[in-house]
Parts: sequence; structure tokens; C-alpha cells
Amino acid sequence: MTSVLFVCLGNICRSPTAEAVFRARAAGTDIHIDSAGTAAWHAGKGPDPRSRAEGESRGYSFAGQTARKVRVQDFYDFDYVLAMDASNLSDLKAICPKDSTTKLSLFLPDGADVPDPYYGGTDGFRDVVDLIEAASDHWLTTLGGMG
Ligand code: 4NP
Repeated sequence: MTSVLFVCLGNICRSPTAEAVFRARAAGTDIHIDSAGTAAWHAGKGPDPRSRAEGESRGYSFAGQTARKVRVQDFYDFDYVLAMDASNLSDLKAICPKDSTTKLSLFLPDGADVPDPYYGGTDGFRDVVDLIEAASDHWLTTLGGMG
């Protein structure tokens, strides 16, 4: 079984959206999906209502999602750890154990950031879902063939 962990800063906006979108796209596969944040500020909380509103308007479910911080064990438990922006990737590289074999990379295939929408307006939340939807097809192709 292939597993993927989506990571952003707070685990309340971008990575929960990636989890929700990818879970929908990966329905019918046995890919294990989770999300986490590099910071623990919002640990235990549900996704940001602005992310939920945008995602749910497109039919995605955020049911059961609770924010948590990335833990060292994640680098052993997940085949892929995908960072929403370069800062998240840098923070992940700093704590990734040397003997981890996880594939650690940016989420967007072109190496761009999924911009942090937290302090911005609703446009930012819409853009986040647009970017995540497009990249999810790429990852479904990449992970889906692994069985
Ligand atoms: P996320 O967005 O990393 O996409 O979940 C953020 C959520 C919270 C904060 C920053 C970004 N914050 O500063 O609390």
C-alpha cells in the first residue's frame, strides 16, 4: 500500500484541502492519505472554515480531519511527504531522519508554492483549491501505479 502525507504550516488550510481533494480523487485505490503541519499552533482543531467552505462548495469532504503536527515517525510511516511550499519543505528537511527512505518533495509538480491563504481574502482560498486539484491528478498517476 502506498501512503502520502500532505504538509503545510498550520494543517488547517492547505494540507487539509489537499487531503480532502486527494481522498476524493483516490477513491477506489488503497492509497493511505493524511495531512499534518510543521507548527502545532492549531493542533486538535478542525480545518479553517474558509477552506472548508471553498472545498465543500466543490463537493469535497473534510469529515474527520483534525490538525496535528508532523512527527519524526511520519518519515518512516509515509512513502511520500509532500510540502505545500518551500518553507515547509525546508522545515521538513531539517527534521527528516537520515535513514528515512520517504520521498520528500514539493506538492506542485512545477516546484511552485501553494501560497499560504491564511491572512488573505477568499480569492486565496479559491486559488489553493484550483492548484491542489490540478496537482492531485499528477500525484494520482504517480502513486496510483504503485499498488
Ligand atoms: P496552512 O495555513 O499552513 O495552509 O494551514 C496557515 C494556518 C495558520 C497560520 C498560518 C498559515 N497561522 O499563522 O496561524
